[in-house]
Amino acid sequence: MTTEPTTGFLWGASTAPHQVEGNNLNSDWWVYEQRMPHFGPSGDAVDSYHRYEEDMRLLAEAGLTAYRFGIEWARVEPLPGAFSLAEIAHYRRMIDTALSLGLAPVVTLHHFSSPRWFIEEGGWLGDTAIDRFTAYVERVCDFLDGVEWVCTINEPNMFAFMMLMAASINTDAAPPMDTPTVQPENGFVLPLPTPEATQRLIEAHHAARAIVRERTGAAVGWTVANLALYATDPAFESRLKEERWTREDVFLDAARGDDFIGVQAYSTQGVDDGGLVPNPPSPDNTLVGTPYRPDALGIAIRHTWDVTGGLPILVTENGIATADDARRIAYTTEALTHLLTAVDDGIDVRGYLHWSALDNFEWGHWEPTFGLIAVDRTTFARTPKPSLSWLGGIARRGRL
Ligand code: FCB
Repeated sequence: MTTEPTTGFLWGASTAPHQVEGNNLNSDWWVYEQRMPHFGPSGDAVDSYHRYEEDMRLLAEAGLTAYRFGIEWARVEPLPGAFSLAEIAHYRRMIDTALSLGLAPVVTLHHFSSPRWFIEEGGWLGDTAIDRFTAYVERVCDFLDGVEWVCTINEPNMFAFMMLMAASINTDAAPPMDTPTVQPENGFVLPLPTPEATQRLIEAHHAARAIVRERTGAAVGWTVANLALYATDPAFESRLKEERWTREDVFLDAARGDDFIGVQAYSTQGVDDGGLVPNPPSPDNTLVGTPYRPDALGIAIRHTWDVTGGLPILVTENGIATADDARRIAYTTEALTHLLTAVDDGIDVRGYLHWSALDNFEWGHWEPTFGLIAVDRTTFARTPKPSLSWLGGIARRGRL
């Protein structure tokens, strides 16, 4: 590739608090995990709550310039209206640590997990949702000095399905579904997000956006799961449009007026006249059951650019669940080639954040390993994989 991304292009890696911190006892996900018989609970996760400095140092020393991490609402507001000063100080230290290591902090305010009390009270579809969420966002904005990128809600289009799990919270029952991020082998396809969930999340995003703008100097946006859907036959084009709108484009369209849009892409999926077609099993599939499709990133970037009317793009997640690190490098090389071709074509891409910095808790499952860094879950020892120094090298050179 000839392209050199503009100076200031962010090269980094991403995590989410519930997936790496450990002992997130007060969150709704902690409850679901304990009730799902086939789930590996998050437990100590990879103890990044205590070891975040080591994690960030490994990224910075490899050459990366950004770290996307989240703030866990369940910790910052352990009871309704009661904010923990100690937890606020913790997240402030994380921001300071990132800045002192030369990593631009990209901060996510909500990444799938919510306080247990919030869900018990009625959750995202309840009457108090927007007030509760905005009170939390206001409090967080008080300590975001130095943060230039804020993501309000992670993957509202995936989160809409997780909201279905919330129905079980005030019972002893297991949640009615597994995580949407791991594709089951039985051919199940994700239901459509309901209009109520979609509208509520858009409302929450717009409310949070206004607060972040008023109280901080950060660029604000949200991150959408790009599904790179395609019609399995030209006859299904109109069904494809409908599926795209409901599962993805309505959320991209709601980003108009934001400062940037987070693109998250991993694979592709076909659509026929019945809707999404389950991905067939194949030895080539990744450890989350999705096809090996590094071209998904380029498709996602171009589609997002079109639907948002040219909003600046930050790739906030892209990666592969594999136990074979050479395959991770091959996948990412190809994905980045597609990214750089899109930049050559004039699309404004501001950075690339790989999912994930660490092998971590894949929403109920430990087997799908996405990390640039392996973690021994008994000693918590970190072992960087070759892909970390490889990606750091690209960051240092600013080119593939
Ligand atoms: C995305 C999520 C992230 C992780 C990756 C694999 O959908 O945002 O937390 O689960 O997929």
